[in-house]
Amino acid sequence: MLCNIFKKEGKMPEKISIKDVVAQKKSGKKITMLTAYDYPLATLVDKAGVDIILVGDSLANVVLGLKSTKEVGMDEMIHHAKAVRRGVHHALLVVDMPYEAYQLDIDQALDNAARLMHETGCDAVKIEWFDKCLEVTQRLVQAGIPVMGHLGLTPQTADRWGGFKVQGRDLASAQKIMEQARALEDTGCFSIVLECIPRQVAAIISDDLSIPTIGIGAGAQCDGQVLVTPDLLGLIEGHKPKFVKQYLDGANYIMEGLQRYCSEVRSGAYPDPGHSYSMIQTQAQKADRCPLWFKSFLRAIARGMLYISRTLIRIMPYWMFKVFVFFFIGLGHCLMLKKRNLALVNLQKAFKDDKSPQELRRIAQDCFNGFGKGMVEVIYYADRAHLLPQKVTIEGQQHLDKALKGGHGAVLVSAHFGNFLLMYFRMIVAGYKTNVIMRRVRDERFEKYISDFRNQFGLKTIYDLPARKCVQESLRALRHNEILFILLDQNYGTDGRVFVDFFGQKAATAAGPVVFSCRTQAPILPIFIKRQEDDTHKIVIEPPVPLVQCGDEQENIVHNVAKLTKIIEDRIRENPHMWGGWMHKRWKSRTVEEQSLLDKLQERLQKESGQ
Ligand code: KIV
Repeated sequence: MLCNIFKKEGKMPEKISIKDVVAQKKSGKKITMLTAYDYPLATLVDKAGVDIILVGDSLANVVLGLKSTKEVGMDEMIHHAKAVRRGVHHALLVVDMPYEAYQLDIDQALDNAARLMHETGCDAVKIEWFDKCLEVTQRLVQAGIPVMGHLGLTPQTADRWGGFKVQGRDLASAQKIMEQARALEDTGCFSIVLECIPRQVAAIISDDLSIPTIGIGAGAQCDGQVLVTPDLLGLIEGHKPKFVKQYLDGANYIMEGLQRYCSEVRSGAYPDPGHSYSMIQTQAQKADRCPLWFKSFLRAIARGMLYISRTLIRIMPYWMFKVFVFFFIGLGHCLMLKKRNLALVNLQKAFKDDKSPQELRRIAQDCFNGFGKGMVEVIYYADRAHLLPQKVTIEGQQHLDKALKGGHGAVLVSAHFGNFLLMYFRMIVAGYKTNVIMRRVRDERFEKYISDFRNQFGLKTIYDLPARKCVQESLRALRHNEILFILLDQNYGTDGRVFVDFFGQKAATAAGPVVFSCRTQAPILPIFIKRQEDDTHKIVIEPPVPLVQCGDEQENIVHNVAKLTKIIEDRIRENPHMWGGWMHKRWKSRTVEEQSLLDKLQERLQKESGQ
């Protein structure tokens, strides 16, 4: 938020240099200087347009709660100055050399000053007068470090001069301060802070010197003024020196805010919905925006289209069929916007940053086109089954034949991958007694139409529900040494499911293949159909997948379903555009834990909306 203060202004003010500060004296423009000790205060002070920001060793008293500035060390000064640096874009930044850095051992002064400059990125250092001040100043200036002097009341050594008192009140001591000021200018200081000296003395020094004087408790004739910022903001309670002018009742202002915060937290008024976040709307919350009559209408259109298409395709030559595919896909694009969006969302979930947005869009588009082509192909070849052996080749048939020799049938695990419907028909044409477990589509009339279509071809449909009947019919098929197709890549919302990893997310998956295989000894073979460049297809039958026995029955099921799902995932990863599942809600079902969390969230949301 603080960064925005500058952004709102549109333009960053120019950075002030030492030259600018010195030039201000010549031009008669008063220099403003304030202290800061951390990022937020530095940002505000800088934004206020102050010329010089000092990370003063007053840090000890006003921030760290120490008794004397002598107690603050290099590490603390650097720590705070670095934070201040981040908030200063305009002002000249000066950092106080702490007592230990130059008064204890003057041979350490240069190293410490260099460290301060280097580590904090400040523009200059400030040192207070002490008996070897000129020597230290000279060393620093010669090394190219800009130095600001500090005369009069020098808090680091105040106890030596009789405590925190106004200095230079008598002639002799005033004379001394003037000499010190001149000596500091001669040694190369670019400016001097005059603290707590009579205004008349400060005026004479300011007239005498060509470098600017910055007064604190030194009257109005100085070339600039400095205050300890928490003093002027009224943040420090207790004794206030005479020269401090409080520009804000900061402590009371802040106190009021703090107390209001406490009382609002206690009363529950804070945080309100405006100051907190809400869950993303969940599926269950979203009202079904599509009315029932409209759904029925859409279904009727789809049905009508299918009847007409089928009649037309039956009599079409191949070239016309190709043109038809083109139009069919175009129409689908317009009508199935929701599905296309869902495909993109699922692709993003699955591939995260592994694929660029363009790649994902391409996959979604190809998947959609493949789906459209597939639908038309099925109708076309249904009446031209004799063409299938030439249009759809089979690789790895020996694995299936060998498996069937065992006499226990074969569970063929596949996915909504490539033209899977054509795969069923091709297996029938190849002479296999073919069963497939399927889910009923919601539109009964449509279901009847397509199941008649499948029956005509000799494909035996076993509906997944009722489950008992499904199990009986599946076992019967296997015991008759038939093949049983199970598409293992769809969300399985009913009993008999397990949650396994699919593209890094838990997906409800039918346990059927493993259960049937365990009960009948039927081997499980993965099988996929892939569209080729020339729009022919290749069915690949993989060797049987050995089931792993690793624990109790449930564990075995989960483990083996996961193993089969991994095979499906691998094939999809090889050819993501061939998987039609992107257009479905594969990860729709929730684990018990997720569901219970969702229920709790919904309860909360209902409460909120009822309030
Ligand atoms: O440390 C400090 O804040 C100072 C100012 C009083 C100038 O040195």
